[in-house]
Amino acid sequence: MTDADTGPGDGTRAVRAGLPDPVKHEPTLPGPVFAAHYHLPGDPTGPYAYGRDENPTWTHLERAIGELEAPGQGGVETLVFASGVAAASAVLFSQLGTGDTVVLPSDGYQVLPLIREQLEAYGIEVRTAPTGGDAQLGVLDGAKLLWIESPSNPGLDVCDIRRLAAAARAHGCLVAVDNTLATPLGQRPLELGADFSMASGTKQLTGHGDILLGYVTGGDASAMAAVRRWRKIVGAIPGPMEAWLAHRSIATLQLRVDRQNATALTLAEALHGRDEVTGLRYPGLPDDPSYKIASQQMKRYGCVVSFSLPTRARADRFLEALRLVDGATSFGGVRSTAERRGRWGGDAVGEGFIRFSVGAEDPGDLVADVLRALDESAR
Ligand SMILES: Cc1ncc(COP(=O)(O)O)c(C=O)c1O
Repeated sequence: MTDADTGPGDGTRAVRAGLPDPVKHEPTLPGPVFAAHYHLPGDPTGPYAYGRDENPTWTHLERAIGELEAPGQGGVETLVFASGVAAASAVLFSQLGTGDTVVLPSDGYQVLPLIREQLEAYGIEVRTAPTGGDAQLGVLDGAKLLWIESPSNPGLDVCDIRRLAAAARAHGCLVAVDNTLATPLGQRPLELGADFSMASGTKQLTGHGDILLGYVTGGDASAMAAVRRWRKIVGAIPGPMEAWLAHRSIATLQLRVDRQNATALTLAEALHGRDEVTGLRYPGLPDDPSYKIASQQMKRYGCVVSFSLPTRARADRFLEALRLVDGATSFGGVRSTAERRGRWGGDAVGEGFIRFSVGAEDPGDLVADVLRALDESAR
């Protein structure tokens, strides 16, 4: 648990997150505002002047995400972006300059190595260490920013965010946490000591596999001003329709994560007993290497389960035999998806490694489908 939760529960907060005060004859969640510019005669004053800088639909969504990421915490700001990568790049490139050092996870999201190349091209030193075992602690000296991804994608390792954040602070180093896999209902990085919580809203936050979105939440006003400036000069902004759909989806976030995450645990337990399954990882499984620290800092363990089958051919046969699970990348959606992660190259995983994202299907149906596909793929 992240804190001694007081006040309304997560479902109550999710259904109302970011809503404006009710106005007679107006909808509960105001519709998307499509505007490249706003009426602005005379001196240019805010809040709404130009559509690349501000949009009322973003404002509602940003409030909603902020209320979930940092409930009751004053002075916290959230900025939404066109994608998770846009949000990640906004933190990294706005906070770092030539001569600075950044610590990244060596086992993080697949696009991080590409971002690393760009950071290095700008004269930024990049160090990496694995998420597990808090190994990033060993390479913090002199760093300006520590980038944590916990749980990591796709390996599902977890590090002690509170411990790493305290050590980073002692080194005068900023801390950003990629909170994509946990969602703000699973983990609140700012409460654990991070300066930024960043996530891809493309995944479980919005949960329907139909929009790309990213966000950054932070409590340091000057650091967030730099992130905002980065959004303005790069222009990686979400469309109003995407922002509105995201806000609408957040109303069901607690329902979705509770259902999907509970089924993920049930699936992990079912896979546990299978001889052909190795390297099973789910942070919510009591004998998972991440369980102890995950239970201390997470409220929910996510909807992704990873495991390996003996060979690439076996994994491919398994995926083809699934009937209720779409073969697709990404994760967090209400429809289960799975993929052989090695098909992309880039992740340090074996050929039979499967990343399985558990959806909102009936748990019994999903587990039966997976067990049947495992049996069929043996032939
Ligand atoms: C942990 C993590 N961070 C960031 C991203 C990037 O998000 P997006 O695809 O929305 O740009 C992803 C996408 O898979 C991810 O898994």
